[in-house]
Amino acid sequence: MDSNKANGEETAHCLILPYPIQGHINPILQFAKRLSHKSLKITLALTRFMILKTKGLSGGSISIGSISDGFDEGGRAQAKTHEEYMARFQQVGQQTLTELLQALADSGSPVDCVVYDPFIPWVLDLAKGFGLLAAAFFTQSCAVDSIYYHVYSGELKPPLQRGEVVVVPGLPPLRPEEMPSFIYVHGSYPSAFEMVRNQFQNIDKADWIFVNTFHKLEEEVINYMSRTWRVKAIGPTIPSMYLDKRLQDDKEYGLNVFNPTTNVCTNWLSQKQPKSVIYISFGSLAQLSIEQTQELARALTTLNKHFLWVVRSSELAKLPKNFSEETSEKGLIVSWCQQLEVLAHHAVGCFVTHCGWNSTLEGLSLGVPMVAMPQWTDQSTNAKFVVDVWRVGVWARADETGLVREGEICRCIEHVMEGDGEEIRGNANKWKEMAREAVDEGGSSDRNIGEFVSTLMSCSK
Ligand code: UDX
Repeated sequence: MDSNKANGEETAHCLILPYPIQGHINPILQFAKRLSHKSLKITLALTRFMILKTKGLSGGSISIGSISDGFDEGGRAQAKTHEEYMARFQQVGQQTLTELLQALADSGSPVDCVVYDPFIPWVLDLAKGFGLLAAAFFTQSCAVDSIYYHVYSGELKPPLQRGEVVVVPGLPPLRPEEMPSFIYVHGSYPSAFEMVRNQFQNIDKADWIFVNTFHKLEEEVINYMSRTWRVKAIGPTIPSMYLDKRLQDDKEYGLNVFNPTTNVCTNWLSQKQPKSVIYISFGSLAQLSIEQTQELARALTTLNKHFLWVVRSSELAKLPKNFSEETSEKGLIVSWCQQLEVLAHHAVGCFVTHCGWNSTLEGLSLGVPMVAMPQWTDQSTNAKFVVDVWRVGVWARADETGLVREGEICRCIEHVMEGDGEEIRGNANKWKEMAREAVDEGGSSDRNIGEFVSTLMSCSK
């Protein structure tokens, strides 16, 4: 008899394994919280390095299990190349995940289902080797997943020609520069390109495929992908207190790779007028060039509006000399913040973003108009949707030298914050409401999560 039930717990046990970077841990952790709220027993498997770096999770009903990617002291940064990281993660990860699954079974709490990030597809093979159910959790948009799938299947063949119009079923026609950078800039980051393609190598073995999106947001492409697989949208994976408010204690992500400043931002924002502040962040990975950082800094000086800018410590030296001091009346620069607290604050009127998928979903779900400045990976495709499909922002375009100039940045920010951007601001409010509906009781994502939980419970009886 399954000991999760023998102990009187009457539930199924899911082991959840994220790809260990901030932008992938956050959304799967939120999904885990929703599953736990619906009474599943959850073990979140983190690499030893991530446990050390984030100090694990505090409180809550989710347990932490430890595995290793082979780089316990330094994580990804310790590997010389991405290839080396992925190969070692697979080798050491397989062994330590096997040990963890065995230890959980021995302790009377065997795992019924493994939810994994398809950036590490070997987890699916391992789960199946143990005879377990398995679910893939795609962190990025369904549109981007579909593009990568078409590359994997050979229906989309990079390199793309300049001026070509790319047609992928369920998506608007895309120009090459609106495709993920691994495809558009053919040959860039070959190992990362292989990783996004390999997500599909064994996907037909997965019992469920979850995507961090919601049905109304990507209806056409979700419907298209559902013809081949059981794709289920379960997002947006944003803490409940910002959306449906059904999970009372669910306000923070719970795991932060960087140290957020506490209260500094909200205290500062609280002294500002409604919708008067520009919030700028480029997520956890993107590195702007010195020239681009300085164009942005000049734009903020020229605009003379209040701004809150996240500049990670490693990027600080790129700011113009004395910029922080000279703009201290208008601006606050922090190395990391509680982004959701900031976006939810009534003083914020515009989000200048790299359009990482989490930031895009967060801006959209909190109703903040966006200025898109995509840098690489999936961000250009996300920007295309922000601007042309959901119409909640504008794209600050680079000139022929590849830089987004001061004048363009000023024009875009003014557009979304002032008179002209009325339609954008109206749409932002509509999407905020639709995001909430999706995760609220009986909403499309809530139903998909509920069905998964009931099926799992009945399978594990
Ligand atoms: C990466 C990729 O770059 C992105 O394109 C992909 O879709 C997911 O993985 P990242 O670049 O970090 O992620 O961007 P994003 O997806 O936006 O995730 C950043 C996360 O960090 C967001 O959840 C955001 O709320 C959080 N954040 C960011 C903070 O909590 N504080 C900050 O100061 C900045």
